[in-house]
Amino acid sequence: MTALLEIRGLSKHFGLTLGAFGDRAATVRALDDFSVDIIEGETLSLVGESGCGKSTTGFCILNLHQPSGGSVKYKGQEIAGLDEAAMRPFRRDLQIVFQDPYSTLNPRMTIGEALSEPILFHGLASRAELPARVTDLLADVGMTPRFANRYPHELSGGQRQRVAIARALACQPRFIVCDEAISALDVSVQAQILNLLLDLREKYGLTYLFIAHDLAVVRHISNRVGVMYLGRLTELAPAGDLFARPLHPYTRALLSAVPKPDPRAPVNRQRLTGEVPSPLNPPAGCRFHTRCPIARDRCRAEVPEWRAVTPGHHIACHAVSRADKTNWEGQS
Ligand SMILES: Nc1ncnc2c1ncn2[C@@H]1O[C@H](COP(=O)(O)OP(=O)(O)O)[C@@H](O)[C@H]1O
Ligand code: SF4
Ligand SMILES: [Mg+2]
Repeated sequence: MTALLEIRGLSKHFGLTLGAFGDRAATVRALDDFSVDIIEGETLSLVGESGCGKSTTGFCILNLHQPSGGSVKYKGQEIAGLDEAAMRPFRRDLQIVFQDPYSTLNPRMTIGEALSEPILFHGLASRAELPARVTDLLADVGMTPRFANRYPHELSGGQRQRVAIARALACQPRFIVCDEAISALDVSVQAQILNLLLDLREKYGLTYLFIAHDLAVVRHISNRVGVMYLGRLTELAPAGDLFARPLHPYTRALLSAVPKPDPRAPVNRQRLTGEVPSPLNPPAGCRFHTRCPIARDRCRAEVPEWRAVTPGHHIACHAVSRADKTNWEGQS
């Protein structure tokens, strides 16, 4: 298994000025100490409540936000903090698809023009080859060539998202961040776009970072799932393992709200109470301690270490041990 991306200690702190006169400085700790290898050909999903730092993670990995610290290696080469000129050779390989395709589609450009732009920018085809290339890209996302002459406002939400995916594909990328790429779509359209993403992953050997707040959605697309809380990764495991045997109290609480496909499967209900604290002033120790039903004194003082409970199943929690994992396995 080859790591396409090796991410170590990635963090992003946004500086803010507060107060009526802008005289108070504050820091939003949007992301702290994020470390993971993203394996070539996999779909790694990131889940967690709104504001927990998922988009910031995607942006920092692609160097669309300059990280405050840490390292991102793409195929062994450091890209964190490179300026735009130095990033240019990597931009083609590293793409992003957003929740709102309008943010990437110029309303005054036809779909054909929108798809041609990145091809010409990266010198991937001559002008004579463009129409055929645009037709191929539209076919890849299940659209007929006649869409090339349409404008974004003439398309449905699902069709616009197909075009946004085609625009990312136009660069012949290796890695795509799908940042809530299906979250705004109707449920039936979500399933179609998920299937399209899976087909394209197979066809082109793509690797995805799939960001979503909906756990039920990621179950079907992910090889591994990472759970984030208030700027930190709290648990990371193969998808089947995470859904069958969640270990972190936060993951268990999130999952207890998701209907189980097998009603006989063990349910460990731990209802989430209280508000997510502010990333301006995150709780000391374990950031989840203000809402955790099993928090103890140590949790309020010490940041839990990120460690493997079993090979491939990582967690940051003082209360979970290898024995807990064995207990879960005994139950199922
Ligand atoms: N440009 C920015 N300036 C200041 N704070 C930001 C900025 N972008 C994101 N944040 C803050 O960082 C935190 C994480 O945001 P984000 O990564 O967008 O979360 P998610 O994608 O999980 O909803 C939030 O508290 C958000 O308000
Ligand atoms: S470290 Fe403590 S507060 Fe944090 S999740 Fe584990 S038990 Fe709960
Ligand atoms: Mg987001």
